[in-house]
Amino acid sequence: MAIKTIFVSMLALAVLLLANLQAPRADEFSRADLELWQQQYETAVKKGRKIFTDPGLGSNEVVCAQCHPNAANTHPETYPKFQKQLGRVATMAEMINFCIMNPLEGKPLALDDPRMTALQAYITNERRGVPLAPGKH
Ligand code: HEC
Repeated sequence: MAIKTIFVSMLALAVLLLANLQAPRADEFSRADLELWQQQYETAVKKGRKIFTDPGLGSNEVVCAQCHPNAANTHPETYPKFQKQLGRVATMAEMINFCIMNPLEGKPLALDDPRMTALQAYITNERRGVPLAPGKH
């Protein structure tokens, strides 16, 4: 009887351990979810394109697209990387704020400002397919 109890307990323990070893599984999602998320993403990209070509972020009528037409020379795939202007390893968002404050003479955006998210969505979308190269100059 005692041996049987020990055996059953060990078996239960083994089952629990195995269950914990399983890889974490993502939530289930449907085709409708995917379509909605894609639509939301595309809205952010469009909003980013608008901000990129609109003088609203600055105080001197300069726009991002003047120096970065179609997000040229923004190199999102190289972030995070050491940026000389900031003197540290920085994210692209910090470099976007550098350009808002300097060429555009505007106020920096909070890192979670929806306009900051939209700018990053637009820039990275323009560079879709470029291999990641963090740290590269
Ligand atoms: C007057 C020209 C000019 C304007 C306008 C401008 N930038 Fe820049 N931008 C630069 C220069 C110069 C650099 C520095 C390139 C370097 O040394 O990496 C730069 C760097 C960047 C980088 C990093 C590029 C890299 O290779 O790492 C990003 C991202 C960027 N700008 C985004 C923006 C955004 C977003 C705006 C609008 C808010 C903007 N820029 C407006 C000239 C400009």
